[in-house]
Amino acid sequence: MGRLRNTKSAVLSILVLQSMVLLLIYIRQSGFTSQVEVQKGKVHVLILSSWRSGSSFVGQVFNQHPNVFYLMEPAWHVWVSLYQNSASALRMAVRDLIHSVFQCDMSVFDAYMPEKRNVSSLFQWAVSHALCSSPVCDLQENEEISDESVCKKKCNKTSFEKVEEVCKTFSHVVIKEVRFFDLKTLYPLLRDPSLNLKIIHLIRDPRAVARSREQSMKALMRDNGIVLNTNGTEVADTSYHVMREICRSHVQIYETATQKAPSFLKERYMMVRFEDLVRDPLTEISEMYKFAELDLTASLKSWIYDITHGEGPGEKQEAFKITSRNALNVSQAWRKTMAFEKVAKIQEVCKGAMNLLGYRLVDSEREQKLLSLDMVLPRKRYQFIWLPSKTSTNQD
Ligand SMILES: *[C@@H]1O[C@H](CO)[C@@H](O)[C@H](O)[C@H]1NC(C)=O
Ligand SMILES: *[C@@H]1O[C@H](CO)[C@@H](O)[C@H](O)[C@H]1NC(C)=O
Ligand SMILES: *[C@@H]1O[C@H](CO)[C@@H](O)[C@H](O)[C@H]1NC(C)=O
Ligand SMILES: *[C@@H]1O[C@H](CO)[C@@H](O)[C@H](O)[C@H]1NC(C)=O
Repeated sequence: MGRLRNTKSAVLSILVLQSMVLLLIYIRQSGFTSQVEVQKGKVHVLILSSWRSGSSFVGQVFNQHPNVFYLMEPAWHVWVSLYQNSASALRMAVRDLIHSVFQCDMSVFDAYMPEKRNVSSLFQWAVSHALCSSPVCDLQENEEISDESVCKKKCNKTSFEKVEEVCKTFSHVVIKEVRFFDLKTLYPLLRDPSLNLKIIHLIRDPRAVARSREQSMKALMRDNGIVLNTNGTEVADTSYHVMREICRSHVQIYETATQKAPSFLKERYMMVRFEDLVRDPLTEISEMYKFAELDLTASLKSWIYDITHGEGPGEKQEAFKITSRNALNVSQAWRKTMAFEKVAKIQEVCKGAMNLLGYRLVDSEREQKLLSLDMVLPRKRYQFIWLPSKTSTNQD
């Protein structure tokens, strides 16, 4: 009898256990996952680049699209608040901030902003087309703001809460960021089923980057300190130590994405060279839009034409702005104005990146100044090599 009762209760407990497991599986598959899965049609685009590489221009290309909510460098707040840390120490905070912003959760800024805040607390808020139009900004019927300075005056009353509300109404959230130095930090975002993340990795000839950085030297000194881990001391990058880190990061990102890449990166990475973009904007922008699941409208096409066919290279004071200037000439300016010794030094620290990404090295001042010699080599159509999906989870 005793043995029978024992068997009975054993069977009973197994049954109870089984139902609990089944229930758990059911909960996870139905209610739970349908809540975290990405909403249909939502796309999250990260323009991953470096300082002075044309990323503001690419950001604008997306910002102009009516379906896009765009923010420029939100992680600026992390770096400014925690400026005595290194880029490496801050990368997780930067990642988590980006993650929240993609999900339109702006409470993440609590850590970096005063309690009393409005839209103008947000770095470069007036660049964002969404924050400069109705219904966020109280405008007259048919009134449109096309200028950042007008937006600053007219739309600065928006409450901070409104930013979050408005963000949620757009299908595409696009963020431009220059503060990532490796791709693996972003893996959790790529695997998150509630995000549909696409990464546009924008690169530019390091010699053109270095020249442009020289022109904005003061503005970059705090960030340089963070890159070089100087405990809050601002530094000018006269020996190109920051350039070395930037070039190293491009190699790391590109190689991680294209060689033995985990399967969750499939169709989520695109490399764009600024020079290709400037030479054939329509083709390159069409490709980026396609990648980001956006259509190219007629008015966007004419905007692209205007912005790339303006006059003269950029003035010093407008180094942080995008105007209708001749982008092609700007991209060649280093060849006329930079001393060859500097060019040689940059080539030395960035050789690996330049070889990998298709930039020609020059051997002499003559070659540097010989404008008929093309510095941009045909892009190798990169062959993606995927890891078998079984092993991909062990690779990060
Ligand atoms: C904010 O808007 C007011 C008018 O609403 C304007 O007087 C003020 O100058 C603006 N602030 C800035 C920083 O532009
Ligand atoms: C917005 O906040 C800033 C401080 O962050 C303040 O100087 C400004 O007056 C505020 N603007 C409005 C319109 O409330
Ligand atoms: C960093 O600088 C602060 C002062 O700004 C100083 O108190 C601190 O000891 C420094 N830390 C290191 C590791 O040098
Ligand atoms: C662009 O550069 C070419 C060659 O360097 C020059 O002839 C032309 O005048 C420049 N155009 C502008 C608009 O600066």
